[in-house]
Amino acid sequence: MKKLEDLHISVIGAGIIGGALAEALSPYCKVTATRRQIERINGLGEKGITLTTDNIKAASDADIIIISVKPSQVVPVLQDIAEAARGKTVISFAAAISLDIMQKAAPKCRFVRAMTNIAVKVRKGYTLFSPEERINVKELELLEGILLKFGEIQRVQEQYLDVLTAMSGSGPAYIFTVVESMVYGALREGLPRKLALEAAAHTAIGAASLLLESGKHPAELKDMVLTPGGVTIDGIYELEESRIRTAFMKAIGSASARSRVLAEKAREQARGEIAE
Ligand SMILES: NC(=O)c1ccc[n+]([C@@H]2O[C@H](COP(=O)([O-])OP(=O)(O)OC[C@H]3O[C@@H](n4cnc5c(N)ncnc54)[C@H](OP(=O)(O)O)[C@@H]3O)[C@@H](O)[C@H]2O)c1
Repeated sequence: MKKLEDLHISVIGAGIIGGALAEALSPYCKVTATRRQIERINGLGEKGITLTTDNIKAASDADIIIISVKPSQVVPVLQDIAEAARGKTVISFAAAISLDIMQKAAPKCRFVRAMTNIAVKVRKGYTLFSPEERINVKELELLEGILLKFGEIQRVQEQYLDVLTAMSGSGPAYIFTVVESMVYGALREGLPRKLALEAAAHTAIGAASLLLESGKHPAELKDMVLTPGGVTIDGIYELEESRIRTAFMKAIGSASARSRVLAEKAREQARGEIAE
């Protein structure tokens, strides 16, 4: 089994996520990145990444292939590269496209289905992944080493990935909304914009770090901030009156439902493409 530094990894679909993945890997191994409108790839060439529009060559040059095109493009791309990628492992970051669909599109490849989030841009992504059964322990170690270059990782059962897409893939958008709302509140009180933004963002980082490091339940930690008759309980009272928890529960529920609908549509589309 090769080591990370001896690998050549090709990222097919160097858009927002794929570009960040290619950039994160570029200090550690040889990387190729593809997209059709190659002129729209910004900044990757300067990192020593080979750029091409040729997915088949990228797949045949690579030891491991990463797919980060939109879900509707996954099956056509896999069908194109199936021969060039024969015997290789493909990690797909596309939402909704299941392991069984990918196996049908390129039966001679091994697959990992992964979901990450936009924080991969600063190597702080949270990548959930499900490897297929044919991937052995040694290869899994190598693959985990690759995924760790994007941030934290967690192996999960594939059945959880559609909800995790709505929770963790979409999650930064919810957190940005919370931070933005806190900033608006502070602006109303006359705080300078930059100070308000930094204070809100650092508060979010600190609270999340405490949650993870202490292993305590959020309610227990929240209780530590709630001095009787103090400041925070007034803020919490307003949030409770606005049904903040119901709003978040509904948001995750609604996004999960959408994620499942898109997954079902993707399956139908893929079945049609694979049957053709
Ligand atoms: N954005 C997120 O926060 C996020 C989070 C988690 C997972 N994801 C998943 O990541 C995937 C990519 O999302 P994204 O937001 O990065 O989208 P994006 O910016 O649109 O990136 C997709 C890229 O794929 C390229 N592409 C399309 N067809 C191609 C082909 N046949 N060969 C080579 N490249 C091709 C597109 O460029 P050209 O049109 O120039 O080819 C585009 O740059 C999606 O499947 C999504 O579900 C996204």
